[in-house]
Amino acid sequence: MATHKLLLLPGDGIGPEVMREVEKIVGWFRKRGVGFETETDLVGGSAYDAHKVSITDAAMARADAADAVLFGAVGGPKWDGVPYEVRPEAGLLRLRKELGLFANLRPAICYPALADASSLKREVVEGLDIVIVRELTGGVYFGEPKELVTLENGQQRAVDTQVYTTGEIERITRVAFDLAKKRRNKVSSSEKSNVMKTGVLWRQVVSRIHKAEFSDVALEHVLADNCAMQLVKNPKQFDVIVTDNLFGDILSDIAAMLTGSLGMLPSASLGAEDPQTGKRKALYEPVHGSAPDIAGRGLANPIAMIGSFGMALRYSFGLLDEADRLDKAIANVLAAGIRTKDIAGPGMNAVGTQDVGDAIVKELEALS
Ligand code: IPM
Ligand code: MN
Repeated sequence: MATHKLLLLPGDGIGPEVMREVEKIVGWFRKRGVGFETETDLVGGSAYDAHKVSITDAAMARADAADAVLFGAVGGPKWDGVPYEVRPEAGLLRLRKELGLFANLRPAICYPALADASSLKREVVEGLDIVIVRELTGGVYFGEPKELVTLENGQQRAVDTQVYTTGEIERITRVAFDLAKKRRNKVSSSEKSNVMKTGVLWRQVVSRIHKAEFSDVALEHVLADNCAMQLVKNPKQFDVIVTDNLFGDILSDIAAMLTGSLGMLPSASLGAEDPQTGKRKALYEPVHGSAPDIAGRGLANPIAMIGSFGMALRYSFGLLDEADRLDKAIANVLAAGIRTKDIAGPGMNAVGTQDVGDAIVKELEALS
């Protein structure tokens, strides 16, 4: 039997709580004969408290050796004063960069049972099924120079650099088109080519790859501000949206709210396929953050985290039946009205984090 090595990095805030629910799910699959091996390590503020860094070299080595990393969330007001280089978020950025996780897939699916939990009208979001493909290792997140300096006149000056090369755009473009071919065959590429040189290059490269390799897929270019507006106005016009690191960060928070709650959106961050083994480095994380305001109270919605494990089943381990079963279990639990506070409807009794995890395990049992 193949063993799948998982590294769990629960992180801070609600991270550990939602990760505990994933461990229940992993345990259930293990009992059913799927070979999962798990290790746990620190990242973010919790790593800083223990080691004065946001992730240790040892944890990085474990992440590199794992078949998949499951990541909770990092950050919180407790670490507001720590040096910038070791702030909690730096641990996540180091993982993304050093593991080469350039392709971030953020699906936004509106479960029928949740259409009323969205802040938008039911008819706008019901049946929504889109994916944001976010470039994750380039752009303004990593561009140099990146600095904050004090000038001679006493003023301060801050610089971030937005930078993309042809190769970086080509590879993320191919991920988006490949994905669209398995879906509704449409890619919307989003940038600001009306203002930014990186946007001009982005549009050129996407068009060229489209023409040369994917002319059977529909392509449109949408300026990023218009894309944000269209996402709120009529999100179902989209299938796959491909965009840079910063726009992807922003657009995916919008997409998350369309589905009812930020607590619903899973994500997969994938590296390039190793030509020898066919494997990809991969990290799976919910789109939501550490939510320090509700941490430790058992209120957090674990579905984005559990859904992220579902994406690991699908993308890292090729366990498609298992992934389908987990998705079905989540949908059934939602339909049965077992929901945390963020998505509970009016007059509905909200349950806790653990109740949702337990209900999903029970539903997995019932489905098999
Ligand atoms: C995300 C988060 C991260 C990002 C933060 C925590 C660094 O917001 O994954 O969307 O900006 O990429
Ligand atoms: Mn974000």
